[in-house]
Amino acid sequence: MNNKQNAYKKRGVDYRSPATLLTLPREYYQSEAIYAEEVEKIFYKRWLFVCREEEIPEPGDFQTVAIGDESLIVVRDAQNKIQAHFNVCRHRGTRICKAEKGHFSSGVIQCPYHAWKYDLSGGLKAAPLLNDVADFEKTDYALFSAHVGIWGGFVFINLAEAPVPFEEEMGALMNRFEDWNLPDLRIAHKLEYKLKCNWKIILQNYQECYHCPGVHPMLSKRTPFRGAVHDCFEGAVIGGYMEMTERRGSMTMDGKAAAPPVCKVSGEDLQRVHYYSVFPNLLLTPHPDFVLYHRIRSVALDRIGNDCFFLVHPDVLADHKLMERFQSAVKFWDLTNQEDWQVCEQMQLGLKSHRFKRGRYSPFEDIAYAVDQEVLKALGHKPAEME
Ligand code: FES
Ligand SMILES: [Fe+2]
Repeated sequence: MNNKQNAYKKRGVDYRSPATLLTLPREYYQSEAIYAEEVEKIFYKRWLFVCREEEIPEPGDFQTVAIGDESLIVVRDAQNKIQAHFNVCRHRGTRICKAEKGHFSSGVIQCPYHAWKYDLSGGLKAAPLLNDVADFEKTDYALFSAHVGIWGGFVFINLAEAPVPFEEEMGALMNRFEDWNLPDLRIAHKLEYKLKCNWKIILQNYQECYHCPGVHPMLSKRTPFRGAVHDCFEGAVIGGYMEMTERRGSMTMDGKAAAPPVCKVSGEDLQRVHYYSVFPNLLLTPHPDFVLYHRIRSVALDRIGNDCFFLVHPDVLADHKLMERFQSAVKFWDLTNQEDWQVCEQMQLGLKSHRFKRGRYSPFEDIAYAVDQEVLKALGHKPAEME
């Protein structure tokens, strides 16, 4: 039994069964009913990545986030704490804020309709002409709040009333990547993409490198696909790392480092690129010299926004020469991303065919299969291999 087979066995998967690694049926990419169920059971219930702490640095700074039919205001309050409020006025249900980001001046969130005013923590402060009305208590009309969790400078929210605790859901992340001092890193660059494919196709594509030799000739030279090692197969956080061929290299146009190693990164990590997906919408890729991450925003069954960010140490950001060199990493990943987006959109198109029911993963895609199992588990559907 080889290592891969041993790994399957350890996870209770019978690698010999022809049905073991079936892909999701095509309905999971084409059915509006299944998508509505995903919105309900995944996007409204799980921890979603929204932004970096640095993007709302001052009290009053905010971003709004669209999730299914919901809109959330993620804001830094007067006590410097990040809060998330449903973007719904408690008077008659009007959406309060239309801007994608901005600053609430004087610490006031004001509804545009009848001018009810809330403070940054969501408390109702003024409701014109209602002060003397019997039985009207402002404390009964605070903005509805969502839960907030922060790890490594990444801000997550959860819309459920009683979610799985953040630390429990993100357990596998908690003691990882401490050498990168993630909260201290700063956004150096952002690439924005709009894609015509289902959100799951991006997660699967991110996790497996079976496609790398054909789709990514340059990436395959930097990290041969057979060198992928996965150490998290279950739960919200899954993934592993790949070894780079170039000593002290990085994922850049010439394979050389884009910047000095981040903070205390040393030893084996100088040769590795880590790839972890944080279900359902953060793809986290720490390199020795920078951190790449993607934020996926599902906007429809076959539409997503996919923003790709680069984090560097503030010293790199402040150095014009280092930032010029850093463009080699941006160029490399923009090229690689677009190679991926093309096949992901083609997969979405192909899955329209009624002739195709479902496919079969190769052993090198067991981690994409793990993504599917997390989806099925969240939906409460039966696992693929049981059919
Ligand atoms: S709906 Fe917001 S103040 Fe009336
Ligand atoms: Fe890829």
